[in-house]
Amino acid sequence: FVRRCTTQASNSDTVETSEPEISSSGDNHDVPRPGVDLRRFSDIQEERRQEALRSVLVRHVGKATEDELAKFCSHFGEVKSSFTYGNQELYTLLEYKSKGSVHSLLNTAHFRSVLEVLPYKSRLLSFRSSSWMNSTSKKSSVGDMTAEQKFSILATKLCAAQSMEEQMQVLVRETQLSEGETRLRFLVCSLVEDAITGYFPGCIVHPFGSSVNGFGNKGCDLDMYLNLNVEEHKPKKRNSFPRMEYEVKTVPTERAATQNLLSTVGQSLGEFVPSCRHVQYILNARCPLVKFTHEASGIQCDLTSNNSIALKSSELLNLYSRIDPRVPPLVYAVRHWARMHHITSNMPGGWITNFSLTALVIFFLQYTDKPVLPGIDALKELADKADTCVLEGNDCTLVSDLTKVPPSGNTDSIDDLLLEFFEFYSNFNFKSCGLNLRTGEIQEKKNFDALYIQNPFEQQLNLSKNVSMHHMEKFVQLAREAAWMAEQPDFLQPEVGPKGGVTPWGLVSILSGYNRRKRRLMDQKEFTPIFDSIKSGNPKRNSSHGNVGPRIHIT
Ligand code: GTP
Ligand code: MG
Repeated sequence: FVRRCTTQASNSDTVETSEPEISSSGDNHDVPRPGVDLRRFSDIQEERRQEALRSVLVRHVGKATEDELAKFCSHFGEVKSSFTYGNQELYTLLEYKSKGSVHSLLNTAHFRSVLEVLPYKSRLLSFRSSSWMNSTSKKSSVGDMTAEQKFSILATKLCAAQSMEEQMQVLVRETQLSEGETRLRFLVCSLVEDAITGYFPGCIVHPFGSSVNGFGNKGCDLDMYLNLNVEEHKPKKRNSFPRMEYEVKTVPTERAATQNLLSTVGQSLGEFVPSCRHVQYILNARCPLVKFTHEASGIQCDLTSNNSIALKSSELLNLYSRIDPRVPPLVYAVRHWARMHHITSNMPGGWITNFSLTALVIFFLQYTDKPVLPGIDALKELADKADTCVLEGNDCTLVSDLTKVPPSGNTDSIDDLLLEFFEFYSNFNFKSCGLNLRTGEIQEKKNFDALYIQNPFEQQLNLSKNVSMHHMEKFVQLAREAAWMAEQPDFLQPEVGPKGGVTPWGLVSILSGYNRRKRRLMDQKEFTPIFDSIKSGNPKRNSSHGNVGPRIHIT
């Protein structure tokens, strides 16, 4: 998918790299978090946004090459970086050093010479080289790989690792969003923002969710939050006269206003904005949204408005992803495991969402004997006055300076932590206990929800309310299987199979459920429904693994 990403450090100095290095700013480099971007989340977001505003996305028509495009575009200013991707068609995301260069380039662009066009000027362009008339299309017959084919390639790489710890690191490297893909996501937000700015000057379209929370997978959806950025639009009670007021349309509720806004924006995207297609309106959901495909980037987009708490939740996850280097490999492993075993899905329903899975990992890391992660209340304690944040009446204050968070005293390896995770939830009393990420403690459950994870910022809500009993039972059953597999003597031993390849071991066994059939045969008599087998009452932590209740032993 990704062909090349180049960054131009200076006029003469071009560096070619697929993953430009992350740099830290200020005096933060003494903190023992090597390789971690220590800047504030809001600063990282703003830098990416500015980068996107200086960028254009260009489709190569016919045989137009990257070099021809680079040469053409350099007439309008210094190109800071470029990133070319695509199979059937090539696209280049090109970042200029200054915004003025983008305007100069746009001023020379033409509308295509066909009869009827909607003359919308966007930063999504096509480049035809002088030889385009003689060229044949670059379309390739290679279709998309199936999930099985993709996993088979990944499994081969994982099986070639030297340890399970290395397997977990390889999983992150192979599946996480690359630098270029992240840039593309910010640019798509910026292009959508351009379209909405006509109605609402000053609006901002922010990416949130897995595109920015540190746990994004290649191909994950792009969650967008439209902030109209209109300050103080609520009437002030005490105001002096004479005064000027805006003439406005009135709507019965804030929700109706959001629905109207998204409906109008969705229609404009579908009608006028190049590459935005298949617009679907899901306006009656708890959080109304518009779904569409951005074809040039191949990204599925979910646009919401009035959803600032979700952006804050992404900041929270992003903070946790950087506090301890063991967090990303654990979250990626658990998310991948859940996807492979079909207990999570992008479709709405009773599945355990990636958001809930991440919360399960974070809670485990907070609750374990020697905590790896602090609770949210502790992160709030470390906050500056400038970090104070109240959204829709909820205190969402979080520390923004990562260097203030003390490193954990827990030294367990990531593979041990993953196995402890499975043991912990194999025996967790989901029937009467809920998870509180603010305190990092178990709390008594007051309802019959299959999984109760207190929403970190809207504390009266359960962020896993959608999860069905069926999926929860499946989650626990699979966690037990994973824990059981890890206890087998040959779990970490790669073996050469009958056809000469290496049979699954370590993480690959867990992800693929290899050995499961064997386990079923052995375990048929012992299996009892999960919720009956769990002891009621307040669970106690196990001294060695921080797990709840007895360890399972299957003989
Ligand atoms: P992907 O599955 O990779 O897209 O992960 P994601 O973290 O982006 O999840 P998703 O696209 O489903 O949701 C985007 C954001 O919406 C999350 O990061 C949360 O902030 C919020 N969100 C998603 N699901 C829930 C939920 O069940 N409850 C609550 N309260 N918020 C949710
Ligand atoms: Mg998402």
